[in-house]
Amino acid sequence: MGDRVLVFDTTLRDGEQSPGGTMNTVEKIEVARQLARMGVDIMEAGFPAASPGDLDAVRTIAKEIKGVVIAGLARTNPGDIDAAWEAVQHAESPRIHTFVATSPVHMEHKLRKSPDEVVEIARAAVRRCKGYLSDIEFSAEDATRSDWDFLCRIFAAAIEEGATTLNVPDTVGYTTPAEFARLIQYLKENTPGIENVVISVHCHNDLGMATANTLAAVEAGARQVEVTINGIGERAGNTALEEVVMALRTRRDFYGDVDTRVNATELVPASKLITRVTDFQVQPNKAIVGANAFAHEAGIHQDGMLKNRDTYEIMTPQSVGWASTQLIMGKHSGRAGFRSKLNDLGYDIDAERSQTLYQRFIELTDRKKHVTDADIVAIVEDNLRKGEAQPFRVIDWRAHSSADGGAEAAVMVDAHGVEHEATGKGNGQIEALFSAIDSVTGIENTLERFSVDAVSPGEDAQGSVTVRISVGGNVFSGRGVATDIIEASVHAYVVALNRAAVAATTPERAKGAV
Ligand code: KIV
Ligand code: ZN
Repeated sequence: MGDRVLVFDTTLRDGEQSPGGTMNTVEKIEVARQLARMGVDIMEAGFPAASPGDLDAVRTIAKEIKGVVIAGLARTNPGDIDAAWEAVQHAESPRIHTFVATSPVHMEHKLRKSPDEVVEIARAAVRRCKGYLSDIEFSAEDATRSDWDFLCRIFAAAIEEGATTLNVPDTVGYTTPAEFARLIQYLKENTPGIENVVISVHCHNDLGMATANTLAAVEAGARQVEVTINGIGERAGNTALEEVVMALRTRRDFYGDVDTRVNATELVPASKLITRVTDFQVQPNKAIVGANAFAHEAGIHQDGMLKNRDTYEIMTPQSVGWASTQLIMGKHSGRAGFRSKLNDLGYDIDAERSQTLYQRFIELTDRKKHVTDADIVAIVEDNLRKGEAQPFRVIDWRAHSSADGGAEAAVMVDAHGVEHEATGKGNGQIEALFSAIDSVTGIENTLERFSVDAVSPGEDAQGSVTVRISVGGNVFSGRGVATDIIEASVHAYVVALNRAAVAATTPERAKGAV
């Protein structure tokens, strides 16, 4: 067997069988185009006998999508096989995939047939397919709970009738890597004619081992893998295409030249497309395509990544279609990661200021789960403004309001190095606070503008408040940022007052105001 592993994508058939994962024909065609762009070898476009809509979707894909084998699934009955042919016959390279159950539990309770009868059913089905086309896949459903010698017998019969691919499904996700590899080896050694066909594997993820089982089978000689994007599929899903493709590619040292022809940079776009059309969200820690697959938050990891990405990344995010690595800014981020983030955001900040900013950032992470770039920009901008002279500094404040609309506030303000306490009243907490602050600063002013913006999304967003006051004909503005709008307002107001106070002692500055 060669080194090429054929990728048989069944997102549109087994993936679509996930409860709630139904796609309409337009969505299926969009997915089919993406699969073709990505370079899968075979796409199972659907189960034509399932409904007229399914037949129509498979037929449309067969007519439109070129450069890929288009397969239609069929049980072994003539009606299914005829419907599959009707749907795939227009494809550049059509395939019929027919299957029958081979495990004792399925044969006895579901099919109510003896093993001998099942072999005959398989023979007749493959023969019927052969009347239509030459690319025929035969699957022994529930193979991993079937008798191994019976599998060899039914596969040999399928080969005799003309099957070109033999699929070994782990229908209920029951096998283990070592056992599955032994089964593939056993089939290779005991099925007459198997050397002339492709051995395929189709794993489900009920025990979380679908990818491991698939890779073990590849090591044992399987050369077709049946997979779905994001691992969607019946129950716990199917083997994830992206995991198998990247495992083979990333561990070339182990798998040698055994590889697929998939263009891995299309993996993330494909994943996003499937999320959009099925509405199944990908878990953030999902390998390759999860939002956190290339995100580093821990300080030690960020530091390592900045020194050499090989420390914590075994593949690049770009190689699978992500734009870049993400250094997530959270409470576990260290100083090195934080400084690098400042650089990325375009700030050239000295070590001392960076240290102050880092403290403020860590305080914010206690209050806010996701600290965004916008939050960091807000912290920096706020701090840079603090480089200005500050005749007044609010040390503490309290405010409350009642249902009648009245509010009271108390502040402690450092004015020119002396601490003052003051109270104020107003129609709301902000007016009461501003009034209390005014009674300390003594700066008569008119509030020209007061605006609030959310700096980042979410309930714990930082609020940015801009205040504009006019003092003696000059206008001064201030901006404050905090998760609490009232606190941001106090900061903004004091910045504006400080600017007014400084301008009063340096009249040149008052002309331009701020
Ligand atoms: O899981 C399974 O056994 C299947 C077959 C139809 C191949 O999906
Ligand atoms: Zn399946």
